[in-house]
Amino acid sequence: MKNILVMGAAGQIGSELVPAMRKIYGNSNVISSDIRTDVSEVLKEGPFEIVDCLDTKKIKDVITKYNIDTVYNLVALLSAVGEQNPQLSWKINVGGLMNLLELSRELKFALFTPSSIGAFGLSTPHDNTPQDTIQRPNSMYGVTKVSGELLCDYYHQKYGIDTRGVRYPGIISNVTPPGGGTTDYAVDIYYKAIQEKKFTCNLKPGTYLDMMYMPDCIRAGIEIMEANPAKLIHRNAFNVAAMSFEPEMIAAEIKKHIPEFTMDYDIDPIRQAIAESWPNKMDDTVAFEEWGWKHEYNLPKMTEDMLNVLSEKLKK
Ligand code: SER
Repeated sequence: MKNILVMGAAGQIGSELVPAMRKIYGNSNVISSDIRTDVSEVLKEGPFEIVDCLDTKKIKDVITKYNIDTVYNLVALLSAVGEQNPQLSWKINVGGLMNLLELSRELKFALFTPSSIGAFGLSTPHDNTPQDTIQRPNSMYGVTKVSGELLCDYYHQKYGIDTRGVRYPGIISNVTPPGGGTTDYAVDIYYKAIQEKKFTCNLKPGTYLDMMYMPDCIRAGIEIMEANPAKLIHRNAFNVAAMSFEPEMIAAEIKKHIPEFTMDYDIDPIRQAIAESWPNKMDDTVAFEEWGWKHEYNLPKMTEDMLNVLSEKLKK
């Protein structure tokens, strides 16, 4: 049985990954942790610890206390907020990861670190972006993600650490909102569609990006760490895809359920520049070949679920 520590558990992914993993591995085998103290009750249904990713001693104490063999490192500043404070972005995204990699040499745990579509840049082929291709991002977030991929592969090759990761698309979910990302509009649009029947989009029409619904995101994070290591040629990090759309397409899908819904635009130049440097659509066949990755949710199926779940949630 695994003993798992999730760092940054109060964020968008952690707040749903923790309960999902507790169902599989048992409540007391999944330790949630965050720098924040005001976390949801769900995270406290099993062990919860306050951990700062820059506090190596505290991380070591928690890993030792619970006999942790697998760490999910979900701590990160996202892309748009990273451009407001690039130095802090580097410190958290790479500094936090380096602390874990160094601890893994001594304590021998496996490490999952998500990478992102942000690990690509303008010179990357934008359509059917291959697994192995040019990675010259121009956002600090992207710089930290490419650095993270390289560091994780390095620690695997040099020290035999079991590091694995996926390049997540923009993640769409209905429990905890994302904060400071470029793909956040695709979450906000559902809330606004229900609450106000209208939405102002901060990316231009025609801006295609990879997106993924949270159930697929969680399954990818669990399945990659369960994958047979003998079959992994790649490790950090696998392209995983589910759907690709531009703002008009998600708006049209919402209109099928809420006919009076309207959308206009007020472009955020920072987010627009970042979005244009990212792939339109990644090719994830290598993830399928090496560990069987397959998405379940497309845009229509996700939209139906998002609107159902959020309509109930926002009534309360
Ligand atoms: N969703 C992230 C962002 O927009 C990308 O990984 O920053």
